[in-house]
Formats: sequence, structure tokens, C-alpha cells
Amino acid sequence: MFENNEEVEKLLKKIDEDIKNELSEKRYNHSVGVMKKAEELAKIHDVDINKARLVGLAHDIGKELSSDDKLKYCSEHGLFVDDVERQNTGLLHTKIGADICKRKYGFTQDMQNAIKYHATGNENMDKLAKVLFIADKIEDGRQYDDEEHLKRLQEGRKLAKENLDKALLYEIDASLVYTIKKGKLIHMDSILTRNKIISHFSLYFS
Ligand SMILES: [Fe+2]
Ligand SMILES: [Fe+2]
Repeated sequence: MFENNEEVEKLLKKIDEDIKNELSEKRYNHSVGVMKKAEELAKIHDVDINKARLVGLAHDIGKELSSDDKLKYCSEHGLFVDDVERQNTGLLHTKIGADICKRKYGFTQDMQNAIKYHATGNENMDKLAKVLFIADKIEDGRQYDDEEHLKRLQEGRKLAKENLDKALLYEIDASLVYTIKKGKLIHMDSILTRNKIISHFSLYFS
């Protein structure tokens, strides 16, 4: 379905128009940055390039709905909202985005999952989902003034080229630290993802 390059270019153009209308300029630019970074990582790690570009461009399509509208969307479309998501409704943009992309653009299940998992991670992430999660964190538009963040960004970019799982673990850890500093609830999926990577790949023990 997403093997025909001409069709993919058409769909990318449509998504580009839609997010240009629906998102702020800053988030639109971020989305284009994630598309490019996802393409770059897909080439390195042997992931479907067309799918990577599409999920990269569309991943934040539900991000700028208000908190009320996010909850309303979920109840109207039968999307389950867990306790952590109810308290941190920002997280809902992932499952809403996946649902919009299924209905509007016919995204396949693996593409929907990649979008669904891009904030918290998930134990069942495949390589496409990992590429999106990492690309979201390290796209070229992300800049930091302070040295600590900059160092982290540079390390994340280096790892992303070398090893997807090491990069994912690094980004999950960074986002857990951020969540703790902000005093927000940690989603269990982040912990489960972290444990899975460490135990499955023995990353911290190798
Ligand atoms: Fe997002
Ligand atoms: Fe994003």
C-alpha cells in the first residue's frame, strides 16, 4: 500500500497541507524535522522509508487539540483513557493521532502503533516505532542553549546512528528524568519499555 512512491508523495503532500492548517508554525516545522530524521534513521537501520516519512510527518497531528477536545475525541471514538492519561491529557495526542491517521490516511497497524507509542514507549515497539520515538527527540530543529541538554542531544544523535535500542533506552531514561523533575506521573509503559530493553538486550550489563 505504501510501496508506490507516487502515492506516498501525494499522501505526504496532503498530510503536509493538513498539519500546516492545524498546527502552529513551530510544531509544523518540528513535524517536518521528524519526517527527515525518521527517513535518515530508516535508511541506516533498514526500516521502511516511506512509512517512516509518513509517521514522522503526521505523528503530532492531534497535539494541539485542547485538553477537553482530546477527552471528547477519545470518548466519541471509543479510545480508552487510563488514569495517567486522564491526569496528563497531553499524552492522549498519541492515540488520537494514530486514530486520525487510520481514518483519514489509511495508515497500517504498524504505523498507527508507532504514533501511539511515541510519547511513552511500549513493550511491543517494532523498529518503525523506535525510529519515530528517537527521531522525535533528536530532529535537527531541536536546539538547546544550556550545556547539559546540548550534550544529551548530541549523545542521543550519536547513539541513534549506531544502535536503535541503545538510543531508545537513552531517550526513555532522559524523558523519565524530565518527567520526575516536572513532578508528573510516570506512565507504566515507559517503565515496561525500559525494563524490556535492558533485560532483552542486556544493554546495561554488556
Ligand atoms: Fe508528540
Ligand atoms: Fe513530536
